[in-house]
Amino acid sequence: MQADFRDRVEQAVASVRRRTQRTPGVAIVLGSGLSDVIDDLVPGTADATIVGYGEIDGFSSPSVAGHRGTLTVADDVAVMAGRFHFYEGRPMDDVVLPVAVLASLGVRTLIVTNAAGGIRRDYQPGDLVLITDHINLMGTSPLTGPQDPASSVRFPDMTEAYDPALRVLAMELDPELKTGVYAAMSGPAYETPAEITMLERIGADLVGMSTVPEVLVARSYGVGVLGVSTVTNLAAGRAGRPLDHREVVEVGASIRGRMVGLLAGLIARLEA
Ligand code: HPA
Repeated sequence: MQADFRDRVEQAVASVRRRTQRTPGVAIVLGSGLSDVIDDLVPGTADATIVGYGEIDGFSSPSVAGHRGTLTVADDVAVMAGRFHFYEGRPMDDVVLPVAVLASLGVRTLIVTNAAGGIRRDYQPGDLVLITDHINLMGTSPLTGPQDPASSVRFPDMTEAYDPALRVLAMELDPELKTGVYAAMSGPAYETPAEITMLERIGADLVGMSTVPEVLVARSYGVGVLGVSTVTNLAAGRAGRPLDHREVVEVGASIRGRMVGLLAGLIARLEA
């Protein structure tokens, strides 16, 4: 993190606090193609405050198709529809600022969703996979540099980065969930088939271009994490045809109902 990170977080928190005093304990980050989930998760605007990223000091607008760019704060949950990616050329501080803001707003549990390529042979497009662990291949970490005074540790333990108890809860709500290890690449090119072979050999089941920076930062603040990937495509070289971002967004949208059911169930159980 850069030396001004805490100032940026506090300015962004102040922007949100000017709009709402709600303090939900749970937050959700919606990944590619999943922004529309918010419409079913937090119906209507009467019970929630919707803040556009443009209204939050320090945030910029997401520039990727399938990402909306709003923070919705309800009594029981805060939902970020749209995230910032390292592959957009943004500094890591920009990528993880939303998570630091959520933690500072009082969030104790973060549910991160994403679109991912399926490496494991028994995954199909449309599968939902609980992330059990990750491999950071982005070549950097958002935690390098000065430590944010709000984070508890210089060297966060990542042994159980994805909270086992939250995974048990998710499995109870949706027993068809699969599980797997997520590898984060910097992108923006999809992987080569040789890279997919490498990832498979080192133990990755899924591959994507997000989530890991956010999880590293969440853990550094002691926020519990649940990660859910949508397998939007078979990994490069597996389907016998090129990968296309439109497909990623479409498959993400097609599992909307199931994702809403899982997330709504999690919110109800975690806020109970
Ligand atoms: N690779 C990397 N990121 C992705 C993929 C993929 O195959 N699908 C969705 N995001």
